[in-house]
Amino acid sequence: MSIRVCGTTCLKGVIEVQGSKNTVLPIIAATILTDGISRIHNCPDISDVHVMCELLEILNIKTYYKDHLLVIDTRNITYAPLPCELTCRLRSSVLLLGAMLGRWGKARIGSPGGCTIGVRPIDIHLEGFYKMNVDISVENNILSCNCYQLQGCDFNMRYPSVGATENLLLAASGAQGRTILRGAAKEPEVIELCNYLNSIGVLIDGIGTEVLVIKGSGCLKSADYINVYDRIVAGTYMLIASAIPSDIILTGIDDIHYIKNIINVCARLGLNVVRAYNTLRVQSIGDVGAGDFATGTYPEFPTDLLPVLIAVLLKSQGKSCVTETVFENRFSVVNELRKLGGRLNVIGNSVYIERSDRIIGGMVDATDLRQGAALVAAGLMASGCTIINDASYIKRGYENIVKDLNDLGAEITYI
Ligand code: EPZ
Repeated sequence: MSIRVCGTTCLKGVIEVQGSKNTVLPIIAATILTDGISRIHNCPDISDVHVMCELLEILNIKTYYKDHLLVIDTRNITYAPLPCELTCRLRSSVLLLGAMLGRWGKARIGSPGGCTIGVRPIDIHLEGFYKMNVDISVENNILSCNCYQLQGCDFNMRYPSVGATENLLLAASGAQGRTILRGAAKEPEVIELCNYLNSIGVLIDGIGTEVLVIKGSGCLKSADYINVYDRIVAGTYMLIASAIPSDIILTGIDDIHYIKNIINVCARLGLNVVRAYNTLRVQSIGDVGAGDFATGTYPEFPTDLLPVLIAVLLKSQGKSCVTETVFENRFSVVNELRKLGGRLNVIGNSVYIERSDRIIGGMVDATDLRQGAALVAAGLMASGCTIINDASYIKRGYENIVKDLNDLGAEITYI
């Protein structure tokens, strides 16, 4: 599947921002800890969600999805190993380890997949499980975890990994005694998972801080959850609006705190952002301010928006620099942007961007989800039309990027 997108002179209209991918996936995994029926509202219609449901079905969990409502019935749940063919299709499959350990004290699953943005080790996840008394072995891409009694522990995370924090929260929810996670991630996705776990009967203190104290329980009830908006999708559209004369209303922004860091960067780029209730009105004349930017763990600017920021800065009035501090290989967008006339230079973990007077439509390849979204942004900024190959990557996280931008007046279509 490819996307054809043409240069656009202005964007105007309303976008209903989809539910968050990276929030809902850990919560789907967490339902493994429960007995009963859970309803997850505002669940995005994206392939990662559907693959996660296929994995749950192997555990004899019934799932039903319609109109952004996901119903999960764990009443007949039974243990089973999870095969590589499915686990390798998404990163979040690794969270099934923590949830299965929390439920059964054992798990056997294939290696996780996910976007190719670096090595993406899971050593911190495994170190934490080890501290909880889990024996771990890896053979032929299969991870086997077993323990006699999953035991709460005091664990120092040497890096605030989002996935490791979520995985250890899930395991700790079913462990005996108290777990203390020091140096935990503070991302909104972690906060939402903590709140959900509290709602099913786990006791978690320190939510939103780097020290989480978890008191698990052997008896967790099912609960409904209303998913938050996807801050990365909202941020993608805000960044695009900075580079193209725009007047856009984003709806569904129910917690402004989760997006403050992104608003601050967009304001530096020249975007005017006005909030009213749960909407944001974003306006610009398309003149992008140059500057130096860096990604970081929350509340810093999110790494997931780095490729889109790089694309947008091609239009800036001067030289800019963007430094990546989270993943080691998130610059795959640079080569593709060069194909469209972008003037960029990578040195170490920074990319230096010069104003590119002419971005010209061409043929480019999506290689991961956010890089693909950045190419859509570049296509909108270019003169002429751009074909983005392998657009299925983009659909992994953006439910409706083509429709959303079409509704704003852009010429964009799947081909
Ligand atoms: C989550 O990935 C998100 N994915 C990513 O979004 C996001 O970029 C990332 O958090 C950071 O915010 C999902 O939620 C599914 P990490 P995750 O563990 O959990 C190193 C997207 O586009 N590390 O915080 O995999 C790791 O190599 C995706 O939606 C270890 O060294 O991120 C990386 O450099 C892409 N050992 C850094 O930590 C470990 O055991 C951050 O990784 C774990 C991580």
